[in-house]
Amino acid sequence: MTPTTPSSGHTHSGNAATLRSTAAPDTTGTDALAGQTVVLRPTGAQHVDAFMAILQHPEVAKWWGGYDLERVRRELLGPNSYAIELAGEVIGLIIFHEENDPDYRHAGIDIALHPDAHGQGLGADAMRTLVRYLFGRRGHHRIVIDPAASNARAIRSYERVGFRPVGVMRQYERGSDGTWHDGLLMDLLRDEFRG
Ligand SMILES: CC(C)(COP(=O)(O)OP(=O)(O)OC[C@H]1O[C@@H](n2cnc3c(N)ncnc32)[C@H](O)[C@@H]1OP(=O)(O)O)[C@@H](O)C(=O)NCCC(=O)NCCS
Repeated sequence: MTPTTPSSGHTHSGNAATLRSTAAPDTTGTDALAGQTVVLRPTGAQHVDAFMAILQHPEVAKWWGGYDLERVRRELLGPNSYAIELAGEVIGLIIFHEENDPDYRHAGIDIALHPDAHGQGLGADAMRTLVRYLFGRRGHHRIVIDPAASNARAIRSYERVGFRPVGVMRQYERGSDGTWHDGLLMDLLRDEFRG
């Protein structure tokens, strides 16, 4: 996964796919996004403890290393971050970044679920929900994700949503063991999305 640098200046526009019932445009970045089962909730200070618990679990930390309190606050509470809720409980987090050079415009996503929630299709549900928002409301035509090449469950989950492997990026990221690991670049075009 790619460390996220939330783009500044982006706000979530109000839309019918959100949980808000008001028709007025929302420029405050406070809209929740409803999935089939999960809800993506804009983040705030109340999410820090849950995010820390998720990211420090060994099953997650091996893919999302190096997150301490300071980094969670800096990188995961921005306007492009959501808590993944299941029946009102925080079970994960999902974030996006945007490349807004018009000639290379695309978005990228990172996601982590608490291990108690793995393998039930909830990751795919959260991913579809954010993908729908990025294609439908933010006007993207291409979305990328870059799991470790050895992260078979993540790759399978992203394939369920429609992402395709582009290629292996050799020695792409440094793991918590200090060595360089291969990453798999995957992308999804708007026309291919199985929303
Ligand atoms: C990656 C992650 C978000 C996926 O979400 P999820 O809800 O667990 O995944 P889903 O249930 O949507 O899909 C998992 C798929 O992988 C399959 N799978 C599970 N374990 C697997 C394994 N070890 N090898 C291969 N496939 C596996 C499942 O059978 C399922 O495929 P299917 O529906 O065709 O049967 C979640 O597992 C997670 O947060 N993992 C830890 C952090 C992480 O790896 N983040 C991603 C960094 S890029």
